[in-house]
Amino acid sequence: MDVYGLLGNPVGHSLSPPMHEAAYDELGLEARYVTFEPDQDALAAAIEGADALGVAGLNVTIPFKQEALEIVAPEDLATRIGAVNTIDFSGSGPPTGYNTDAVGALRALRDHDVDLEDARAVVVGAGGAGRAVAFGLADAGATVAIANRTEPKARQLAEAVPRASGHGLADVERLLSEADVLVNATSVGMEEDATPVPADALHGDLAVLDAVYQPLETRLLRDAAEAGATTVDGAWMLLYQGVEAFEIWTGRDAPVEAMNEALRSRL
Ligand code: ATR
Repeated sequence: MDVYGLLGNPVGHSLSPPMHEAAYDELGLEARYVTFEPDQDALAAAIEGADALGVAGLNVTIPFKQEALEIVAPEDLATRIGAVNTIDFSGSGPPTGYNTDAVGALRALRDHDVDLEDARAVVVGAGGAGRAVAFGLADAGATVAIANRTEPKARQLAEAVPRASGHGLADVERLLSEADVLVNATSVGMEEDATPVPADALHGDLAVLDAVYQPLETRLLRDAAEAGATTVDGAWMLLYQGVEAFEIWTGRDAPVEAMNEALRSRL
């Protein structure tokens, strides 16, 4: 029996257990995915303990993603983003840390036929999600404009991301007029009918990914659909960060449809 899990605090409402267990069921794997809520100061002990117990893999979420970087051997992309959300214990050395949020956003867009090579992308938000998406898009060959309410944070992030520029939210309309891709990586729209982007800045040549998945149809995505844009809801990003983690842990192609169904039936 392989044990996988999620470290976070709190983790009570996580959709990762049903999503991963749907994959195990679909492929007939003897595995379980459980949630753990260590105390805030117990992350290192939790990871070492999991390793000693033979846990196969862990996801990491708030508030532990940044600290996890210091405890595991992080992959280059996770180091650049400054956060680890997936730990693999299968090697003989120290556990390896990955950031699958970045790849999750890229796979969500590619799944909707969005070409990222040489794309002009606008990322709204410069927090944890914004960092992951900005580095991911740059690695995929896009030019990235980062716009954030607190402009200095956008500028600081842009200095670390190749071919990126940093802006305040006031620049969003201008940036979008010549953009191919827009990602909302703020919490605006989560359980509220609000959007970080004026509706009339959206247009039919855009692909719009909203990292918010509660509700699935945010005001931003409604506005984007009305403008004729391609829309990608936040469940796709959540799905593909899990798909990517599953594939790192098992070395097999994930049963994406089964995982998607398990996720969407709970949203
Ligand atoms: P996460 O890890 O989910 O990205 P975070 O690090 O707290 O969370 O970042 C939240 C992001 O949403 C930030 O970019 C934040 O902007 P600031 O850096 O200016 O705080 C953005 N955000 C949150 N509420 C917002 C609002 N009402 N309007 C615009 N941006 C907002």
